[in-house]
Amino acid sequence: MTATHNGYERIGVIGMGYVGLTLTAALAGKGFTVHGVDTQPAVLASLGRGEPHIFEPGVAEMFSEHVGARILVSDELPDDPVDAAIICVSTPVDDATHEPYLRNLAAAAEHVAKKCGPDTLVVVRSTVPVGTSRAVVLPVLRAAWGDGVKLVMAPERTIQGQALRELVELPQVVGGLDEPSLAAGMAFFGGLARQLSLVSTLETAELVKLTNNCHTDVIYSFGNEVAMLAERLGLDPLEVIKATNLDYPRPDIARPGYVGGGCLSKDPYILISTASRAGYQPYLIGNARRLNERLPEHVAGRMVSMLADAKGRADGATLLVLGWAYKGWPPTDDMRGTPIASMTPVLSAAGVSVIGHDPLVSDDMIRQHGGEPVSLADGFAAADAVLVITDHPEYRALDLESLLSGSPVKLIYDSWRIFDEDTVARHGVRYAGLGYEPSRPEAAAGLEGAA
Ligand SMILES: NC(=O)c1ccc[n+]([C@@H]2O[C@H](COP(=O)([O-])OP(=O)(O)OC[C@H]3O[C@@H](n4cnc5c(N)ncnc54)[C@H](O)[C@@H]3O)[C@@H](O)[C@H]2O)c1
Repeated sequence: MTATHNGYERIGVIGMGYVGLTLTAALAGKGFTVHGVDTQPAVLASLGRGEPHIFEPGVAEMFSEHVGARILVSDELPDDPVDAAIICVSTPVDDATHEPYLRNLAAAAEHVAKKCGPDTLVVVRSTVPVGTSRAVVLPVLRAAWGDGVKLVMAPERTIQGQALRELVELPQVVGGLDEPSLAAGMAFFGGLARQLSLVSTLETAELVKLTNNCHTDVIYSFGNEVAMLAERLGLDPLEVIKATNLDYPRPDIARPGYVGGGCLSKDPYILISTASRAGYQPYLIGNARRLNERLPEHVAGRMVSMLADAKGRADGATLLVLGWAYKGWPPTDDMRGTPIASMTPVLSAAGVSVIGHDPLVSDDMIRQHGGEPVSLADGFAAADAVLVITDHPEYRALDLESLLSGSPVKLIYDSWRIFDEDTVARHGVRYAGLGYEPSRPEAAAGLEGAA
């Protein structure tokens, strides 16, 4: 082991998905040598060519510069033990039961136990139920190495789209098995992140990560609750939220929006599983998740109904969907937890044909999710209605004047309210957004009924 980076030089990263790839790029950028490991041949083949299989700003550049030198990818760690082995494998939840699946983590721990020794610092970076580092990873390492295991839990907390910056700038949470483990974790992460947030146990670090994500889910769900309520009352949720927040010295309300992605769509279930094993039934977390999951289906239902208003019937209508990834800002091509997945079944059951555009998502992926890929100009020339799902910067900058001139579009549902409503209305097009349906007659009727 050389003396660079507080004694750390050769790092193993197990699991080369979003988390492993971005960490690998950041470590290579800092001068570490990284051995990346994955079990998927297609991932290894593309990384071996220096071509990351996901989009994340700055990562492709790092790979094309360093692959074969500071970045080495394989289906296994080298025989000469690395200084630190960081486990970044997927920890999904079961589709039906929502119970966490930890077999990838156990397999990764077994591989580290086989290829490394007690001098290697082992880092659990995947998001896991509280108690997992101690119950699943530690026994495997102890069985192979005896008592001198150095183990820390240091969760990944970056946002997709800005991961390389945040890996350095966000405080890095580290919890250790014991003092020597924590000291080793501090020395290693001190070579990467500007600030460390040391916590007293592995379990604390595990709960920090779950708490961060569940809090985000709950906060966003409240904005969505306001939107659903405003829709029924015929009010504008953004007007309500802006006035609620303006110079008010209490917590802000979030804007309404879809809440997806690989993490927020599963981490609440991981925390619920942890809670129920500890004998506690959370009040908020499950309901927040259910509301956020229900939103896309609700919007698809509103589209069907508004298309029927605009055309007489939804059956046979063409809908242009802008934004297929789970979010538009920061831009990503990630489809995990994307709202469109629960919208297309509703739309196709109503006979609506979907055409689609996304600046980053591939045509194949759009087809797999039930849409026919189309350019923006062709889409606006063919559609009866437009549904904007993400606030990708390209959509904010659209020239609506020219796209709507001569277009058959009769309705724009602008989920993030990024278009100028007056411009849309000037073209005789109905405008709506999440919880905002200004010309919805039944809402006004509902208000009268309540009076
Ligand atoms: N995506 C994010 O932004 C993000 C952020 C914070 C935390 N996390 C957490 O980090 C973990 C990884 O997330 P991700 O988004 O990178 O997942 P991912 O699915 O994109 O990548 C995981 C990779 O691990 C590989 N893998 C699975 N089992 C393996 C094994 N035994 N050995 C080697 N490789 C194996 C898979 O082939 C895959 O390429 C998860 O626990 C996730 O919840 C993700």
